[in-house]
Amino acid sequence: QEADKRARILEINKTAAKYFYMLLQSQQGRAAREYFQKRELSEETIRHFGLGYSSKYSNDLYQYLKRQGYEDSVLKDCGLVTIDEKRGGYDKFWNRAMFPIMDANNRVIGFGGRVTGQGEPKYLNSPETAVFDKSRNLYGLNFARTSKKPQILLCEGYMDVIALHQAGFDNAVASLGTAFTSGHASLLKRYTKEVYLTFDSDGAGVKAALRALPILKEAGLTAKVINMTPYKDPDEFIKALGANGYQERIDQAENSFLFEIRMLERDYDMSDPEDKTAFFGQVAQKILNFSEELERENYIEAVAQRYQVGFEQLRNMVKHLGTRGY
Ligand code: CTP
Ligand code: MN
Ligand code: MN
Ligand code: MN
Ligand code: MN
Repeated sequence: QEADKRARILEINKTAAKYFYMLLQSQQGRAAREYFQKRELSEETIRHFGLGYSSKYSNDLYQYLKRQGYEDSVLKDCGLVTIDEKRGGYDKFWNRAMFPIMDANNRVIGFGGRVTGQGEPKYLNSPETAVFDKSRNLYGLNFARTSKKPQILLCEGYMDVIALHQAGFDNAVASLGTAFTSGHASLLKRYTKEVYLTFDSDGAGVKAALRALPILKEAGLTAKVINMTPYKDPDEFIKALGANGYQERIDQAENSFLFEIRMLERDYDMSDPEDKTAFFGQVAQKILNFSEELERENYIEAVAQRYQVGFEQLRNMVKHLGTRGY
């Protein structure tokens, strides 16, 4: 019965995705089409991702789904409409550019919708339903899972994934308007050993990266961090420097530990001897967390080189902090 319900929701989602896609091609969808054009998405990309448009009328989709024979008792659980006892059903998404969200098996499990002009919120997402668990799905994974690239690119937004795929990076995925979780990490683990973070270059992006790294590590994945500066995110980076520019950044991706300590460094005044000492104390403590001696040695070497401090001095610092005989 629960399986029946899930199957019905998936069917409704698929019907809705086709409806949004159809509306995008209609007279009504003109502003959204122009919006996608402005964002430099090709016709092929729009088709590949099944992008669409949700009507500006309050219950177009609801009426359409009713005509297709779906009852209120079924529609109330799909996350696309709200059913009000007195006023009847109305749509969740109005006048938005629509991004169907697929699971790894290409089933439409939910939607993201973006305003094409002014308005809040910028993105609206389907609520979690019997088929939509945001912490266990990633946007773009249905394509990325069969990519021939050696790693998976993890970014923040729908548009980043789409821009990357359009530029040939068919290994890009994003979480669904939520933080990256261990559920996401175990999902990625099925398809790759190595994840490159390509988050926004702003404070929120750095924070999100610092949160995601230990989760990836915990799941046994290797992580590196791609630097998007001076651009805001992969979408804007690609627009400015193209696929070749982006590939260079992939090749230059930073080791996750070295990224972490570079971010840590921001909290210290490195021209002040006391602060500088405290910083290296923190770094030494973090190096101690590596279980392999060779790994610790390698990081001591890398840090000593980057910050122009003596290898032996840093090594002694780590040794003194160590409790288990190192
Ligand atoms: N997001 C969301 N709700 C918002 C803002 C953002 O769910 N109000 C999610 C979306 O999944 C979005 C991601 O967070 O794709 C990243 O947000 P942000 O960096 O603000 O947006 P961009 O992806 O850069 O969006 P765009 O380029 O379309 O402006
Ligand atoms: Mn959940
Ligand atoms: Mn952002
Ligand atoms: Mn963006
Ligand atoms: Mn962004």
